[in-house]
Amino acid sequence: MTREQLEGLSLPKHIGIIMDGNGRWAKKRGLERTEGHKAGADVFRKICNYGADIGIECMTFYAFSTENWRRPPKEVAAIMKLFRDYLKEANEREKENEQRGLQFHLIGEKKGLPADIVRNLDTLERDSADKKVMRVNLAINYGGRDEILHSVKALAGMAKRGEIKPDAITEEDIASHLFTAGQPDPDLIIRPSGEYRLSNFMIWQAAYSEFWFSDILWPDFTTDDLDRAILDYCSRQRRFGGV
Ligand code: IPE
Ligand code: IPE
Ligand code: MG
Repeated sequence: MTREQLEGLSLPKHIGIIMDGNGRWAKKRGLERTEGHKAGADVFRKICNYGADIGIECMTFYAFSTENWRRPPKEVAAIMKLFRDYLKEANEREKENEQRGLQFHLIGEKKGLPADIVRNLDTLERDSADKKVMRVNLAINYGGRDEILHSVKALAGMAKRGEIKPDAITEEDIASHLFTAGQPDPDLIIRPSGEYRLSNFMIWQAAYSEFWFSDILWPDFTTDDLDRAILDYCSRQRRFGGV
């Protein structure tokens, strides 16, 4: 597969990726699950940079769900360490202005995340705010239902204060209080690992997304696979309920 095939096509503006299959990848190799997460983090780096190279405007990476706290504490701690390592590296690159024009955003609940991770996320968001090449949403401690709840609470507060009339609440009002406020919905959602579900990923925003599923485990996912998913997306006809 070559990048030339993508040229001239109308690429998805926003791609969401559910980075799944790390544990099974490790198990297949007789390794600890945490080794799978490490390998998955490296693939995240590659795919993120590649997305920026080919001109994708926004990518959302689902890294840790609000349900993933149910995992053994040792595994959760290992995943948090990988976030720490990545954020440290990204903040250093940012300082050296080598971050390839990536603008970072956390989508997810800060509450519940370790304080140092929140601090480093805040720094990265602030320092990368002027970058223009690609927006990167890091979905950490993210849940679609939690996000909608967040929006509903904000609107309920506004209604209580008389700032908005309940009858007048619109879909746009709900969307503008999600973590993704102001961003386009994902055009394409990719889920590897052979699971055919959203697992609470962008359930509001995915109303008209195209889906691309594959048996590939995330640590085996390559830039060719991303090309394939995009080419497949480009061959589809989106109707949004019209004809
Ligand atoms: C995805 O890989 C990473 C996270 C959910 C944090 P998994 O750890 O879910 O891998 P499998 O699904 O068990 O193979
Ligand atoms: C979804 O994967 C969450 C992330 C990839 C971060 P899970 O492995 O948690 O999903 P389920 O439990 O198989 O649905
Ligand atoms: Mg999984």
